[in-house]
Amino acid sequence: MSGPRPIGYLNGEFLPLAEARVSPFDRAFLFGDAVYEVIPVYGGRLFRLRSHLDRLVRSLAGIRMASPHTHAEWDRLLAELVTRNGGGDLYVYLQVTRGAEHGRNHAWPDGLAPTVFAYASTLDPLDARLLERGVAAITAHDTRWERRDIKSTALLANVLLKRLAVDAGAYETIMLENGVLTEGSSTTVHVVTDGVVRTPPNGHHILPGTTREVVVELAERLGMRCESVAVSEAALRGAHEMWLAFSTRGIVPVTRLDGRPVGDGLPGPAFRRLHRAFVDYIREIATSPAL
Ligand SMILES: Cc1ncc(COP(=O)(O)O)c(C=O)c1O
Repeated sequence: MSGPRPIGYLNGEFLPLAEARVSPFDRAFLFGDAVYEVIPVYGGRLFRLRSHLDRLVRSLAGIRMASPHTHAEWDRLLAELVTRNGGGDLYVYLQVTRGAEHGRNHAWPDGLAPTVFAYASTLDPLDARLLERGVAAITAHDTRWERRDIKSTALLANVLLKRLAVDAGAYETIMLENGVLTEGSSTTVHVVTDGVVRTPPNGHHILPGTTREVVVELAERLGMRCESVAVSEAALRGAHEMWLAFSTRGIVPVTRLDGRPVGDGLPGPAFRRLHRAFVDYIREIATSPAL
């Protein structure tokens, strides 16, 4: 099987990534003035493309930009990027910045041309040991701004929070604010207690996860009870099961939190059922159109 060829997309052109150039005056470089999406690709098919594009449009609206493309145009553009990179299992990264101007003004001038950049990369299979044993997470105070629903490239707080996990030998940092769970540094967090799957309600305080939507749909199909409710720190620490939901990995069980076992310290029955359903779902939709 041929691996992905590093072909990217930049402002209307497909080109070898090694040749891609953007201005140092691009506002994404100077201010993090940009939004992005990460879309998984299974068997050459973009997964949950509509949810990702809907969120992109909402993120752009949140920073007072319009999408440079319609959904149908994005679909064609990204499908071509996938094909040019050899198809298979990939993730696509896509970023729209406010564009470049000569100089540096906090308040942007009208009429800038957005920079549109995308690339594809291999989605390596998840290490089977992670599914069997789960991962460790730590908790930390959520230090981010108040519009976390905007998928902004200004990720300094997330980057520093993730690094805390790595420093502690853990996989993810799960954040708390005012005594309740928000989310992971790059993941949605679900907890299970007495068979009920809970995750915090969407709002400005967290990113509305696309994988979360899949989890809820599949859980409902399986007849599992799901609630979108505030999860207190006590409920988080007392959960029987916990998992992380995010595009590039689907769901990953958390079996240790701050050094203590979650439930019995192994991935639980709700996780196992949902994980199986997730894998089946990817197969089920493999030949349907991405949009
Ligand atoms: C802060 C944050 N929360 C949640 C998620 C999960 O979102 P999705 O399931 O759409 O990947 C991400 C993904 O990158 C994220 O960065």
